[in-house]
Amino acid sequence: MSLAFHINGVSLGHGDETVVRDLDLDIRPGEVLVVVGASGCGKSTLLRSLAGLLPVRGGALLADGAPITGPSPDRALVFQDDALLPWRSARRNVELPLAIRRVPRGERRRLADHWLAQVGLADHGDRRPGKLSGGMRQRVQLARTLAGEPKAILMDEPFGALDAQTRAAMQRLLVDVLRTTPATVVFITHDVDEALYLGDRVAVLGPEGVRTLIDVPEPRDPATRGTPVVRAAREEILRSLT
Ligand SMILES: Nc1ncnc2c1ncn2[C@@H]1O[C@H](COP(=O)(O)OP(=O)(O)OP(=O)(O)O)[C@@H](O)[C@H]1O
Ligand SMILES: [Mg+2]
Repeated sequence: MSLAFHINGVSLGHGDETVVRDLDLDIRPGEVLVVVGASGCGKSTLLRSLAGLLPVRGGALLADGAPITGPSPDRALVFQDDALLPWRSARRNVELPLAIRRVPRGERRRLADHWLAQVGLADHGDRRPGKLSGGMRQRVQLARTLAGEPKAILMDEPFGALDAQTRAAMQRLLVDVLRTTPATVVFITHDVDEALYLGDRVAVLGPEGVRTLIDVPEPRDPATRGTPVVRAAREEILRSLT
């Protein structure tokens, strides 16, 4: 199952500062919507409000037609910093959302191992986060998120701290798991190529709202990288970023 988000005339801010004004955007169920935009334009602010962590100051922010009033396990947030519990093994970290849903212990373990295998960490379940590389920790975080079977995954520059090679591997892994995951994904990045690889659509956000909304030609197909249509989309994103 996947969530539809409806953002209509939304204003957001912190303290005296209004960051997002009168924003309109519809996010379709099951799509990967990538959001790009200059630093400070309000991408993380928007994501936090979709997660229910920041109330709107005006307008309507709806998930499947209902106003978002607080956090929900249906809407999982994934950050650049992995936020794993350092004293729990990888497996016990992945079990967390299952424990919250009161899944019985044996089943919890079985599901956690399933999701760890999905992210290529079948043999690392017993390790604590401190004994894993940054890329591995991100994979544990992804497994934990998927184990909660959220209807939406909200990702804030999740691969921003990884080296180029690990990052490319994580992008392929995400594409792989999304094939069998129905969740709607909202993904923030500064990397236009990452946006064009992962997204069904790319929204360029500015302080005045959504500047451009681009349908990605052949999403998640590395073979189309560098083709004229993708190059044109890339140019358009770069133009509206400046
Ligand atoms: N917790 C907070 N308290 C006060 N101001 C904040 C807070 N979080 C963000 N801001 C301010 O809101 C504005 C938008 O910040 P936000 O983090 O949403 O930008 P961003 O688009 O995610 O930027 P970046 O690309 O650098 O991550 C900035 O001016 C920032 O200083
Ligand atoms: Mg941010």
